Amino acid sequence: MSIIIAVDGTAASGKGTLAKQLAAHYGFAHLDSGALYRLTALAVLQAKGDPGREADALRGARAIDLSMAGDPAIRTDVVGQAASKVAGIGAVRAALLDFQKDFLSHPPGGSPGAVMDGRDIGTVIAPDAAAKLYVDARPELRAHRRWLELKSMGIDRDEADLLKELMARDAADKSRPISPLKPAPDAALLDTSDLGIEPAFAAALAMVEPKVRPHLEGLLKDRHRG
Ligand code: CDP
Repeated sequence: MSIIIAVDGTAASGKGTLAKQLAAHYGFAHLDSGALYRLTALAVLQAKGDPGREADALRGARAIDLSMAGDPAIRTDVVGQAASKVAGIGAVRAALLDFQKDFLSHPPGGSPGAVMDGRDIGTVIAPDAAAKLYVDARPELRAHRRWLELKSMGIDRDEADLLKELMARDAADKSRPISPLKPAPDAALLDTSDLGIEPAFAAALAMVEPKVRPHLEGLLKDRHRG
């Protein structure tokens, strides 16, 4: 059994950065599940399909090329909005489920564990995760972070527009009937509004470590015995 850390939260809350840092800290594999929905959305947009139409979205989900997960083309806000649309379609979520479950049960590279970030990791994909975080921050700060991120990619957007889009996407993600964004009952809540990258990581680690440590010690004992 692999050791799973689930990191869910709102758009641009810092969950991706935290998930990557936690994975590096523990030597675990990392998967940004949002990239799966973004890749699906990109495939639909490239095929001139409608992200809100089940047949188009499902075709996109089946066509995704994981080697594109690091492509900046999926990070744009246009793709983010379309990702939120395909993500509301049950058939798309079902099509992406096995990949996520396999990743968690057999993390690549033989890692003893995996960190996955998204919207429904602690609630649906891995309800038995060893540790769960729910990350949030004030919307204005998240919009500013997203503005900076897009600017670094050469995309200049109006920050007020980004704020509106981000709040609309959060509202859609929280209110959809299938796998809505909400904290799992056993998730630790982390507000990164007033925390820089390092303090946010320290806070996340303080929440996760007591849950993960016993599993790591169990693994070590097993190895010793074996
Ligand atoms: O980076 P950001 O937080 O803006 O978005 P993301 O994590 O890349 O996710 C993009 C969209 O995919 C979200 O708005 C969700 O609608 C959807 N998503 C989801 O439904 N379930 C997940 N596990 C991950 C993302």
